[in-house]
Amino acid sequence: MKHKVYLRALELEDYLITATWRQDNNIRNMVGGPKYFVSTEKERQWVINTIQDSSRMVLGICLIDNNKLIGTVNIQDIDWINGTGSVPILIGDKSEWGKGYATEAKMLALKFAFYERRLQRICDYVLDDNTASLKLHEKCGYIKEGILRRSVYKDGTYHNQIIMGLLKEEFDKAYDLFCENYND
Ligand SMILES: CC(C)(COP(=O)(O)OP(=O)(O)OC[C@H]1O[C@@H](n2cnc3c(N)ncnc32)[C@H](O)[C@@H]1OP(=O)(O)O)[C@@H](O)C(=O)NCCC(=O)NCCS
Repeated sequence: MKHKVYLRALELEDYLITATWRQDNNIRNMVGGPKYFVSTEKERQWVINTIQDSSRMVLGICLIDNNKLIGTVNIQDIDWINGTGSVPILIGDKSEWGKGYATEAKMLALKFAFYERRLQRICDYVLDDNTASLKLHEKCGYIKEGILRRSVYKDGTYHNQIIMGLLKEEFDKAYDLFCENYND
C-alpha cells in the first residue's frame, strides 16, 4: 500500500500555519473546544509547549507528494494503567478536505497508539452534527457508545457530543478493510 500522507513531529515554524487553522470559524464550529482568539505569538508558545510535552504527541499530517502540512493528529489523555487514550484529528487546510487524508492519518496514528504504545482502547468525542467526523470515526472502526447531552455550549446554544469508542480488535478489522480497499 502506497500512502498519501505521513505523520511527523511538529517543528517550531509550523505555528504560522497552525495559527490560521486555529482562527478559522468553520473549523472551530466542528470541534468541542470553546471559541477563543489566538494571536500568532500565543500559537508559537503553544507549539513550543507541545514539542516539550512528553505526556502527549501532537503530530503534523503531511502530504507525501509535496510535504505540505495539512493538519494535526494527537495521541493524548493516555492512562497507562488502563491502556486508554484519545486521538483527536484536524485537517486545517480546508482545500484538502474530502480526499481521504483524515481517514489515512487517523489510521496511522491509531496503529501507533495500539502497536507502539500498547493502548487497548481509544475514546473520542464528536459533535452530533459533525457528519464528516462521525463517518471518519466509523470507518476507523469506532462504535457509538453513547451521547453526552448538551455537553458543549457555543454559538448561543448547547450541542450534544457522541462518545465514539474503539477497541484494538475493532481497529484491526477496520484497518484490514481499509488496506484492502485502498486506492493508490
Ligand atoms: C472531520 C475532518 C477531520 C474530515 O477530514 P477529511 O480529510 O475531509 O476526511 P476524509 O476525506 O478522510 O473523509 C472521511 C469520511 O467523511 C466523509 N466526509 C468528508 N467530508 C464530508 C462532509 N462535508 N459531509 C459529509 N461527509 C463528509 C467522507 O466522504 C468520508 O466518508 P466515506 O469514505 O464513507 O465517503 C475535517 O473535516 C476536519 O478537520 N474538520 C475540522 C476539525 C474536526 O471536525 N475534527 C474532528 C473533531 S471530532
